[in-house]
Amino acid sequence: MRGISVWASWAPIMALGGLAVGAAALEQERAECPFYTTTTIYMPTTVYVTATEPPTSSDSASGTSSGVSATTTSSLGDVVPSTSSSASEGITSATTSSSAVPSTGVSLSDSGTASFTASLSTSTTAVQEPTSTQVPTSEPVVTSSVTSGIISQFSDEWCSWFTYRPPSPPPIFKGYKNAIYFTNWGTSGNNSYQPQELPVSELTHILYAFADIDANGTVKSSDAFADVGKRYARDEPHNRARGHHAYGVVKQLYLHKMHNRNLKTLLSIGGFDYSPKFVPVAADTGRRRVFADSAVRMMADYGFDGIDLDWKYPADAEQSQHFVLLLKACREALDRFSFQHRLPYHFLITVASPAGPVNSHKLDLVGMDPYVDVWNLMAYDYTGSWDNSTGHQSNLYRSPHHPSATKLSTDDAVRYYEGLGIRSSKILIGVPTYGRSFESTSGLGQAYAGVGSEGGGVLLYKTLPRPGAREMWDDEAKASWSYNDVTRELVSYDTPRSTLYKARYVRRKKLGGAFFWEATGDRGGAASLVNTMSKTLGWLDESPNHLWYPMSQYDNIRWGMPGA
Ligand SMILES: *[C@@H]1O[C@H](CO)[C@@H](O)[C@H](O)[C@H]1NC(C)=O
Ligand SMILES: *[C@@H]1O[C@H](CO)[C@@H](O)[C@H](O)[C@H]1NC(C)=O
Ligand SMILES: *[C@@H]1O[C@H](CO)[C@@H](O)[C@H](O)[C@H]1NC(C)=O
Repeated sequence: MRGISVWASWAPIMALGGLAVGAAALEQERAECPFYTTTTIYMPTTVYVTATEPPTSSDSASGTSSGVSATTTSSLGDVVPSTSSSASEGITSATTSSSAVPSTGVSLSDSGTASFTASLSTSTTAVQEPTSTQVPTSEPVVTSSVTSGIISQFSDEWCSWFTYRPPSPPPIFKGYKNAIYFTNWGTSGNNSYQPQELPVSELTHILYAFADIDANGTVKSSDAFADVGKRYARDEPHNRARGHHAYGVVKQLYLHKMHNRNLKTLLSIGGFDYSPKFVPVAADTGRRRVFADSAVRMMADYGFDGIDLDWKYPADAEQSQHFVLLLKACREALDRFSFQHRLPYHFLITVASPAGPVNSHKLDLVGMDPYVDVWNLMAYDYTGSWDNSTGHQSNLYRSPHHPSATKLSTDDAVRYYEGLGIRSSKILIGVPTYGRSFESTSGLGQAYAGVGSEGGGVLLYKTLPRPGAREMWDDEAKASWSYNDVTRELVSYDTPRSTLYKARYVRRKKLGGAFFWEATGDRGGAASLVNTMSKTLGWLDESPNHLWYPMSQYDNIRWGMPGA
């Protein structure tokens, strides 16, 4: 680097350039130099560098140039402001870096002079919202290993010039995730289930389902009373409330988070009922932006740690691409939010993803992956009232002796995801806390007539096995089921035994963990599926939750729930 002389048309830029080269000359290891990527202020001034020797390969050794991106240009004045292509450098550097930065192909011009257009991000002053024209479209613009070499070696001191430190990448394993879906409709009715009943010490993530979507893309509450209105014990009654507070589930989840600092909460958007609303919203740039911003807004209002998208399911390749773009918009909105509020926190994006090939093969899982922190693989509903034979609905393996009862399996689904290059540690396997019933059948893999009048044949685990039914075990499929010889009803459902095998599977395959659909179905004590899972997994995710939401519209969330 000693042979490089630097001069610039603009003094401050020259100073920055000098610093950059100085930092590079220190040959320090790039310490996850955390520049912000999505919201950038451009100072498109061309810096000319005359290099007397080509950079060595070590110059271009490491990953993406987060937040500081550059392009080489061969002609004077060809100024290209650029953003880094991915909004999710912070999270997915492991998966994106190899493709994002060409490691070879130094493009010095013939005269030995390369001109760099550096786009430096600053963190403290005005924030320029990326407009649609600035949002990177496809390919990363870092085209020179010379530039990326210099930039990737920015030292820690250089980084500390910026007050903002974005979320650190997650690859460090901090324990298995044990997540659960908790529904707002479950809090009302005769067999209601309240947030205080959640077995929070055994859980790492609570996915609160489901938020609705407006036609214009706005994510909105599907039940404002359950979310923030309902009064629980020790909440102020309506006539004594002062200020604008969140009550209901939102307050209770925040309290859980205060007392369980490893417990994260996510806003789950969509679900079966609202999924058709994804289609027009994801198809439009403006509506995607509205969706992402309002989802983040609601997440922050509620004091949650991320969002979960449940689109069941994109129907074709076009919708699948729209899903990718929607995820991208969400990642950018979350990162923008972190940046604007100086929150050194990585808010999560999880996706409830299909296990069966019919739906999973339609998705662009590889395209989605950079934006997804956790894949909630819905490893259930393998069979049901839509099928022509009885079978296991969430079996781990296929069974050679009961092929028609095990047309799908969790192992197949996990292998499919892994085969596409998705990191195992990002996959959670879903465990149902309900069973699926089949009536008038002679057994597994046989024809049946009807599934019963109750909820399409869906029965909560805590009501199973039904009186008179014997619980059975399929050791090939690692699945449990029950059969009643008199009524000839078969129910496929998970038990502590099948859950034990799933937990061992998670550990052996080094998956991220498991999740449950949904909280109301489980039993307490030793018969609890959630408990069986958490016990067998042993080490539960220790990444901390977030409690600081000074931008929440609710006073008590904003103030950190004083007096609680
Ligand atoms: C609750 O139970 C009562 C009495 O059994 C019944 O009349 C009512 O319809 C039930 N409500 C719901 C929502 O199921
Ligand atoms: C979207 O529509 C809702 C009403 O349906 C309205 O309240 C909201 O302001 C709209 N949002 C935008 C961004 O247009
Ligand atoms: C279900 O349908 C498949 C073909 O779709 C057929 O091969 C199978 O025999 C059917 N099973 C029963 C029990 O009718």
